[in-house]
Amino acid sequence: MSEEWWKNAVIYQIYPKSFLDTNNDGIGDLNGIDRKLDYLRELGVDALWISPFYLSPQIDNGYDIADYRKVDPMFGNNTDLEKLIKDAHEKGIKIIMDMVANHTSDQSIWFRESRKSKDNYFSDFYIWKDPKVDGSEPNNWGSNFGGSAWTFDENRQQYYLHYYGKQQPDLNWENPKVREAIYDVMRYWKAHGVDGWRMDVITSISKNQEFPDNANPHNLKYVVGNQNNGPRMHEFIHEINQEVFKPFSMMSVGEAPDSKSKDARRLVEPEREELNMVFTFEHMHVDRKPGDVNGRWAIQPVDVVQLKKTLANWQNTLNNHGWNALYFENHDRARTPSRWGNDKEYRYESATAFATVLHGLKGTPFVYQGEEIGMTNPEFKLDDYEDIELKTNYEKLVKQEKTISEADFLKAARKISRDNARTPMQWDDTKNSGFSDVSPWFKLNPNYKNLNVLKDRSSDKSIFKYYQTLIKLRHTEKVFEDGDFQLLLPDDKNIFAYTRTLDDEKWLVIANLSSEIQSVELLKNYIDDKIVINNYADKVSDSLKPYQAMILKSK
Ligand code: NOJ
Repeated sequence: MSEEWWKNAVIYQIYPKSFLDTNNDGIGDLNGIDRKLDYLRELGVDALWISPFYLSPQIDNGYDIADYRKVDPMFGNNTDLEKLIKDAHEKGIKIIMDMVANHTSDQSIWFRESRKSKDNYFSDFYIWKDPKVDGSEPNNWGSNFGGSAWTFDENRQQYYLHYYGKQQPDLNWENPKVREAIYDVMRYWKAHGVDGWRMDVITSISKNQEFPDNANPHNLKYVVGNQNNGPRMHEFIHEINQEVFKPFSMMSVGEAPDSKSKDARRLVEPEREELNMVFTFEHMHVDRKPGDVNGRWAIQPVDVVQLKKTLANWQNTLNNHGWNALYFENHDRARTPSRWGNDKEYRYESATAFATVLHGLKGTPFVYQGEEIGMTNPEFKLDDYEDIELKTNYEKLVKQEKTISEADFLKAARKISRDNARTPMQWDDTKNSGFSDVSPWFKLNPNYKNLNVLKDRSSDKSIFKYYQTLIKLRHTEKVFEDGDFQLLLPDDKNIFAYTRTLDDEKWLVIANLSSEIQSVELLKNYIDDKIVINNYADKVSDSLKPYQAMILKSK
């Protein structure tokens, strides 16, 4: 097996809480994943990235870890994990764990010790600062989950830093003992057979030790910003590589908010020995009003020209310098047909069109659970949402700062909130969608009776089958791994088209990302080409139907 197995692989992300419940507590579990390994093998994926299942108070659905070495009983136990890894390996599927190394839960023994005194072993495991003379926070940094990024601790009479919830204190990566403790955890799981790591907000681990105030153009009390790409970031990530990834041949994909393609290149250039690939955020911002005080809650219609420009820029900048991680959905993103496509008349077509343009690119595609059947956003009421990010931002933006109305916030939540992707997996049309025999931890999308795995797979228009074909292409056609990328029609507002070329092979990937028929002159040049995949039955002509997508191979 090649060291770089991930280059022609497709990776499937599982959000374990919402995947499959086998012990009827309403929460998905590791045995649920085990039970669906054949399903995943039929889909054709090579590896599973499983979101955190460590012991956790679940303030942020497991991205708040209390014990890095223990599976949370709600998901099973360490033996279940060992079985899952063994069974997956037997079926040729690798397992990628999620390492949350920027912060822990405040229930972690490390933090409980750290807050006890200023002079114990764990005191400097976190970032503690004295108050200003007036008792206020050390600076104006804001938390991603609203309010200040600092919380005062009565016992130490100091503030601790948290980029996320106050229950998620940031680790102090300046402290070598912290770094070694994290590497030790990673080696521990390697010993259990884990094949790689998805590194949560890894670009946030190095903090500017001057702790300067953030620029404050909107005159806010607390400002979110400058949380990434800190001064020692590359040094720390290189160290993780040397201590864990490289000696144990583990795959790595880092979450890299705020990274531009040039920054990413420095993170993934193989000679630098940092990460294999990173998740960019840039292309996910194409439906956000730039510079708006309401940040990601200030939505606008998707800008297809911008989407192409951004993805093409990443393709070109990393070409021959590193590797891309390709995704549209994950547990922090909404469902693509509802967000950018048309989840009513053209659900099948828009789900498959976006899948086509993503899977044709150079890099490793990631498929998020439910994406392979075109799951959609639920149209929830505000009270139905669970997510800490949504709730804290609602308090801040709607209630306190009043920069957005409740109606507009709800509209944005229905489009982009993280909860859209977290509803239980829709397996069939039985009670609770076959996810659980009891009421699930989070509301189901009410459309599960018509939209579920069983129904999709037996339909003429099966999104699952379309994904099977796309995934098979990645495995069989070298051009998708190595072929050069060239964007065509960059200014077209609806058509996403590009070629991939390798030696004398030339492939065209093309999709109409709109609900209207579009005429495409360019297609006339490809009329004699072989249709490799097409989400309509039509032959090649000079137009594309709504959300029509094709991959063609030149004869
Ligand atoms: C990114 C994770 O994907 C997200 O779900 C989480 O809330 C933050 N990092 C904090 O860990």
